[in-house]
Amino acid sequence: MEATMSDEVIRLYPQPGAVLPLQGLYLASDLRGVHAAADRPFVFTNFVSSIDGRIAIVNPGAGKMGVPHATANPRDWRLFQELAAQADVMITTGSHLRHRMEGDAQEISTGDDPRFADLRAWRKACNLAPRADLAVVSRSLDFPYPADMAAGWRKIIVVTGGDADRGRIKEIEAQGGSVIVAGEAGVDGAQMVAGLAERGYRLIYSVAGPAVAHILLASRVLDRLYITLAHRLLGGEDYTTFVEGLRLDPPVSLRLAALYLDPYALEGAGQLFATYDVAAD
Ligand SMILES: NC(=O)c1ccc[n+]([C@@H]2O[C@H](COP(=O)([O-])OP(=O)(O)OC[C@H]3O[C@@H](n4cnc5c(N)ncnc54)[C@H](OP(=O)(O)O)[C@@H]3O)[C@@H](O)[C@H]2O)c1
Repeated sequence: MEATMSDEVIRLYPQPGAVLPLQGLYLASDLRGVHAAADRPFVFTNFVSSIDGRIAIVNPGAGKMGVPHATANPRDWRLFQELAAQADVMITTGSHLRHRMEGDAQEISTGDDPRFADLRAWRKACNLAPRADLAVVSRSLDFPYPADMAAGWRKIIVVTGGDADRGRIKEIEAQGGSVIVAGEAGVDGAQMVAGLAERGYRLIYSVAGPAVAHILLASRVLDRLYITLAHRLLGGEDYTTFVEGLRLDPPVSLRLAALYLDPYALEGAGQLFATYDVAAD
């Protein structure tokens, strides 16, 4: 198919600038080439946000928090999937699984979606399973074990704290889940990443929300943050932002690694795709 202007984004940083295809933009960062053989895992996360920092709101008629309809868009979703394609394991949460059971959480895998056939072929060519495994962070363990997701090829690992219900851990193990106890009261980020590394995972992609972002940042185990900044202001008082939890002290410094302008998204409002590396303390 012939490329059109709307298939492109503009690189603003690093300079010199360039016009590049949207498709392949995040695959080109070659996370596996750079980090798959490293002796420590590479941990990355991704958010789409409004300019005023809303990553989740109660959408009209939804009754519960979710990604705002005003910022979700297929161009961002394409890049989300390019990151997922490069992962060994994706981190999600108990609350995501509860929403999924109720039928109102976005499926994080590509399934058979024809738009992402190239990414499935890419994983196959890299000798990877069709999808990454799934690590579910939960303190309450109050979710039905997602046997449908585990069917066939996807391993489910539940990550919880030492204060979790022992009986519930046994039930999950009896259903085929593998459980990592990482931390005393709730999950500790460093222990979670060490536990995943012990199981051979190197490329760890958190698609969870602000509590897990805080867990990773507080332990200083997050390496990279991908942000899509949708050029919209949402206001409102009931919202969630990127990181929620105790004040990060000292604050986490980020170094801009790349910045792209996508002028075509959101009916021409556009968006920025920013990649930040977490700076060493
Ligand atoms: N815009 C975006 O890019 C973006 C990205 C991700 C998520 N979101 C949105 O953000 C909202 C929150 O998502 P989320 O609930 O999946 O993410 P989250 O805020 O990172 O996770 C919350 C869940 O994680 C578990 N948890 C939290 N702290 C814990 C601890 N110390 N130890 C063990 N487990 C702990 C709890 O599970 P249990 O309750 O099971 O104990 C809790 O319900 C959702 O509306 C989602 O749609 C938006």
